[in-house]
Amino acid sequence: MRHEEILQAIYDPANRANPYPLFAELRRVPVSWQEGGPSSEGTFVVSTYREIDAILHDPRISSDLRKGEHTAALSGPPPNAFIQLDAPEHDRLRRLTMRHFGPPDRPNYVGQLVPQIQRVTRALVDDLEGERRFDLVARVSYSLPVALICAILGVPRDDQAKFHVWADTMARTAGRLTPEPRAEFNAANVAMREYLGGLVELRRRTPSDDLLSRMANEGGPDGRMNEPDLLATMTLLLVAGHETTTNLIANGMLTLLRHPEALARLRREPKLVVGTVEEVLRYDPPVQLLTNRTPLTDVTVGDVTIPKGVLVTLALAAGSRDPARFREPDRFVPDREDNAHFGFGSGTHYCFGAPLARLEAQIALTELVQRLDRPRLVVDPPPYREGPLLRGPRELFIEVDEVR
Ligand code: HEM
Repeated sequence: MRHEEILQAIYDPANRANPYPLFAELRRVPVSWQEGGPSSEGTFVVSTYREIDAILHDPRISSDLRKGEHTAALSGPPPNAFIQLDAPEHDRLRRLTMRHFGPPDRPNYVGQLVPQIQRVTRALVDDLEGERRFDLVARVSYSLPVALICAILGVPRDDQAKFHVWADTMARTAGRLTPEPRAEFNAANVAMREYLGGLVELRRRTPSDDLLSRMANEGGPDGRMNEPDLLATMTLLLVAGHETTTNLIANGMLTLLRHPEALARLRREPKLVVGTVEEVLRYDPPVQLLTNRTPLTDVTVGDVTIPKGVLVTLALAAGSRDPARFREPDRFVPDREDNAHFGFGSGTHYCFGAPLARLEAQIALTELVQRLDRPRLVVDPPPYREGPLLRGPRELFIEVDEVR
């Protein structure tokens, strides 16, 4: 394979189960031009730790692709959510969201969700009692994040059948700029915003104690979000809030089942769950690629100059296994020290939901490891979801002797 074709191979579903040898190949050239990928025109790909870190912290690199050369491919419902905006607009909208996500009178809002996360997790695992074979994705790793993000935002769980399809479509087509997936992404995005628009109206009339009500009704030092920004933000939170966490829990269980000694140790030493989740975020991360960067001016990284306006892809999953940064990067080491992975990105766009995602994954893995007696994989590797960016099993069938 020519070096310029590696990204295409990573996009190929045939390589979804184990893209890591391809990421290793990619790292041989820290910054390289790749054919295909997110756009038919190709993209620069940055694949080594130091270079990815530099790009993530460089204010000359934009997250707003409308400022690059791909404007035509990007027509869609305005405005962008803050993940796709630069300072100062990004900072203002992120601050506004943060303010209401963790209300000022409840500084440790996410920490206070622990009992609720435990309750939901316990109920999902209780539901497995008496069964010896089940799909962990459908039964736990998808249901938990959806239940939580719905409760936080104030989106009725019963509407899941409606928004589940749009969220899945958006996750599958995210970061793909060719016409067909882009059209699918836009249609799902519009449908999601219309649906959420209806909820905003409802919460304006009858507010309750949820993020949607607070964002729709309350101001603050930065004012209140206008309606289009509010809908873009809610869509972002609803999609980002569950598609990724699902993959973290599933990738975590899959990795533990492939490393029985790590699983047994976690059962004996529950505190190890914190390091275990961090190591999954490094070793088998739910977000593998970021495809939404473009330089506002020519930018030199190492000995390569990336021209203004081109598409830049950051191979986070390659950076988090860079041997120049991590010792024995291909080994799963739950008590690894010095684990500054790129699982949640870095810099101004560092994941907004990281504290919540960490808690959900820690609680879910703890419960599963304690209550599943002799769990083993039915199919290895499991079938994967289609998207190369948000990567994780579509199903994860597990067999157990008993659910305690
Ligand atoms: C941003 C990963 C869970 C909301 C990001 C970014 C990554 C990421 C890599 C950086 C994007 C960039 O630099 O362009 C993950 C993973 C998760 C997770 C692996 C779960 C395991 C969540 C949750 C929420 C959330 C639960 C919502 C409650 C966001 C938002 C941004 C973001 C709003 C944009 C931040 C900004 O632009 O300032 N996430 N995320 N994420 N994430 Fe997450």
